[in-house]
Amino acid sequence: MLNADSKVDFAKEILALKKAKKAIILAHYYQEPAIQDIADFVGDSLALSKQAASTNADIIVFAGVHFMAETAKILNPTKKVLLPDLAAGCSLAESCSASDFAAFKKLHPNHVCITYINCSAQVKALSDIICTSSNAKKIVESIPLNTPIIFAPDRNLGKYLMHETGRDILLWDGACIVHEAFSFQKLIVLHLLHPNAKIIAHPESETDVLKVAHFVGSTKAMLDFVKNDACTEFLIATEVGIIHQMMHDVPHKTFIPVPAKEDNTCACSECAFMKVNTMEKLYNCLLNETPEIVLSDELIQKAILPLNKMLALSN
Ligand code: 13P
Ligand code: SF4
Repeated sequence: MLNADSKVDFAKEILALKKAKKAIILAHYYQEPAIQDIADFVGDSLALSKQAASTNADIIVFAGVHFMAETAKILNPTKKVLLPDLAAGCSLAESCSASDFAAFKKLHPNHVCITYINCSAQVKALSDIICTSSNAKKIVESIPLNTPIIFAPDRNLGKYLMHETGRDILLWDGACIVHEAFSFQKLIVLHLLHPNAKIIAHPESETDVLKVAHFVGSTKAMLDFVKNDACTEFLIATEVGIIHQMMHDVPHKTFIPVPAKEDNTCACSECAFMKVNTMEKLYNCLLNETPEIVLSDELIQKAILPLNKMLALSN
């Protein structure tokens, strides 16, 4: 296997390899700034899924976490899908094993299973319909009122959906380690220091944070909000990587990350899973065409059904 030379200009080499191999780089907003800058497309989970489904590139390099790269493979199974580091997991996906989820479903056979896209391909295959933070409310509202719903694996997004739709939903008890770490007390103190700032939060955050937020939405919706709102100062309750795009799109505005409960070195919230990807790993991954996401045809055929249902409702 070829190895990367440590003196390599990664940005230049990645662009050359990308062109030579007819590859596309899809990146989530939580990736490090250099990766966002070199990507062909940066987006939230829904937009990235749509890009993955429609690309005619030969290779999809997914600069995100494992469940996102798996989703790309399910939606475009004839393409080679690469993830710079297979260790890029997700606490939500890990909280919900396929065997536990299957057993939970068995206890509630009349329920429709709406599953957040942050889950494994195996859990997707057991689900009736997938959602992302962009379309979750719409997906819940698509289920007839008399049909009971299971929502997995994020209990915070699930509670938010119960509040937004007025539906009683059976929740899986999972959470995002980044979004549940925000300190409500520190947020209130920060807002006292910046009384004109608007609080904007991702729905994976805990209920107390969501209750005081001026706006709640997916990463893309948060980005659109800071661009379109007249306010010039925002307290950001999501992974800190998104601030790179916010500063790029509206450089004259101020973005302050909401601090975590535990003091950490940067006093901001980084997703350690998202940050295992680096420019060097991205380069090596394109160079060697590994690590590759490999899923069985049988799994793909099952997992694509609830994903396609979501996409049909998301146009
Ligand atoms: P969205 O980008 O879809 O809002 O999701 C956030 C997230 O936590 C991805 O892991
Ligand atoms: Fe998973 Fe949370 Fe990281 Fe998103 S931010 S990948 S939900 S652990």
